[in-house]
Amino acid sequence: MSRQAARALARPVPVAVRHLPVMAGEVIEFFASARPRLVVDGTAGGGGHLVALVKAFPKASILAVDRDPSAADALAAAWNSRSGLVIRRASYTSIPEILEETGLGKADAALFDLGLSSLQLDDPARGFSHSLDGPLDMRFDHGTGPYASELVNGLPEADLADIFWRWGGERWSRRIARAVVSARPVESTLDLASAVRRAVRGNPVKSVSRVFQALRIAVNRELSELETLLDGLAGWMAPGGRAAFITFHSLEDRIVKRFFMDSPDFTPCRPAWRAPTDAERLANPRARSAKLRTGVRS
Ligand SMILES: C[S@@+](CC[C@H](N)C(=O)[O-])C[C@H]1O[C@@H](n2cnc3c(N)ncnc32)[C@H](O)[C@@H]1O
Repeated sequence: MSRQAARALARPVPVAVRHLPVMAGEVIEFFASARPRLVVDGTAGGGGHLVALVKAFPKASILAVDRDPSAADALAAAWNSRSGLVIRRASYTSIPEILEETGLGKADAALFDLGLSSLQLDDPARGFSHSLDGPLDMRFDHGTGPYASELVNGLPEADLADIFWRWGGERWSRRIARAVVSARPVESTLDLASAVRRAVRGNPVKSVSRVFQALRIAVNRELSELETLLDGLAGWMAPGGRAAFITFHSLEDRIVKRFFMDSPDFTPCRPAWRAPTDAERLANPRARSAKLRTGVRS
């Protein structure tokens, strides 16, 4: 991390961070050379990166969005109309309309820290964790869309197996789907986890994680959201603008990688991707699988 980024991250800000931001120093350093006037945090979540961005670029306008109403409301309450900071509850696919409506212009820097936040994972009522008892919800935007329980209890066995295979990479997908269907109604996260455990041979912990990941991706249509975002990205980033993506599993990472390789509008940065340092991984085990990919708008 450069001395400038380290100094910026050490400055105090008025908000308690409830999600440890992943590779924040690397992101700030990457954005700093664009001297951004408008920064977009497309997945503001617990506000961890947002705090770092506000500290590092105090003169920039910042647009922070999150699809999760609890996250967006908490950020709005914490930042309480700080000047230059616009917070919206929205999908990142709506960023072009928000920029248009607010007149903020084109972004010089944009961050997408994909996946789910510690706040979401640690709240049993959200249903994301397989080790906390809760309802099978798993919606980021808990006002809309199907619950995970609707898929788990309503889909034909073959469709469930397909979800577990395609979005979880789970080799026991058919056996698990059969076990889940015979355990219906599956009411809670722990019910689902134990149905999965009963179905697999070998290490069940990984299978349970993969099934939960697959359902979360299906419920939130995560990969098609990401593809829609990437399709429109060049349209709202300024020439020379810098885009950073932090991914946590190979499905989303592959989409971002291919985008930077194939897009006529972005030049991928070297190295092609970066991982958190050993020290960060030790301090924040949830950062373990993170990959940072970056590109510059031509
Ligand atoms: C890993 S967390 C971000 C954490 C944040 N960077 C921080 O440091 O606190 C990912 C966030 O992305 C949000 N999210 C997921 N899909 C989204 C979408 N399509 N549009 C906007 N936000 C989304 C989730 O609700 C979650 O809060």
